[in-house]
Amino acid sequence: MSEYETILVETRGRVGWITLNRPEALNALNSQVMHDVVDAATAFDADEGIGAIVVTGSERAFAAGADIKEMEAKSGLDMIMGDHFGEWGRFAAVRTPVIAAVSGYALGGGCELAMMCDIILAADTAKFGQPEINLGVIPGMGGSQRLIRAVGYYKAAELVLTGRMMDAAEAERCGLASRVVPASDLLDEAQKTADAIAAKSLPSVYAAKAALDAAMETSLAEGLRFERHVFAALFDTADQKEGMAAFREKRPPQFTGR
Ligand code: CAA
Repeated sequence: MSEYETILVETRGRVGWITLNRPEALNALNSQVMHDVVDAATAFDADEGIGAIVVTGSERAFAAGADIKEMEAKSGLDMIMGDHFGEWGRFAAVRTPVIAAVSGYALGGGCELAMMCDIILAADTAKFGQPEINLGVIPGMGGSQRLIRAVGYYKAAELVLTGRMMDAAEAERCGLASRVVPASDLLDEAQKTADAIAAKSLPSVYAAKAALDAAMETSLAEGLRFERHVFAALFDTADQKEGMAAFREKRPPQFTGR
């Protein structure tokens, strides 16, 4: 894997780790961070040896938002013609499950990056928010759309309209954080969760993520139809035969990803 300017990338077992690394700017997401994260995530996604991806930041900040200093002087036309946040769509589209391990600030684009992931593990120090309204703008990387789906209209509206931050306990209560853990355990818990996913059959993991995504994007009837087709398709994998035989034979399954 190549060297990156703004992130650290490593593989631990079958898990790909992406660590945001702009401490001087609390991991603010400038264009270079976007290129680097998207490139690393899509490379992990193309590697069948990787069964889960973790994205994390520092103790102080997961990411304090899009880079305000980079955006400040831009015009509307610059933002549209440059498709300023467009590349993030490729991150949201990876088939491999992604865990956001969030410590400290996850604000604006940082909260939105976490919401592009499938699981949000929060340290008890995490703080989530969409403070763009304080800058005279609104969320631009999906916050107004994904936050509603995560926490419901009224909670999302309060956060987006006031810009206030919420702590990890509130984020868990309202369904944004999958789980809260002590800050000192965050990275171990992320690795354990990722290891658990990476030990499953990869085709079924891809299928599960695709079905979960469909629920966010389609009607119930369409989603149910999609789920049934994908469920049926998995019966052509060797791993389905192995998984069910292992259950019958009371032994752990040996999945091959086929
Ligand atoms: N963009 C650029 N630089 C940022 C940044 C951001 N989003 N957030 C923090 N920084 C920089 C600060 O400018 C500062 O740099 P200097 O030392 O060079 O001045 C450094 O990071 C440390 O930050 P602070 O000194 O402000 O640290 P603090 O502990 O006093 O405050 C904070 C922490 C509350 C997170 C505060 O930094 C803050 O409010 N940051 C901005 C949060 C924000 O508004 N995010 C939304 C951005 S817009 C967006 O994300 C649009 C979208 O939807 C995609």
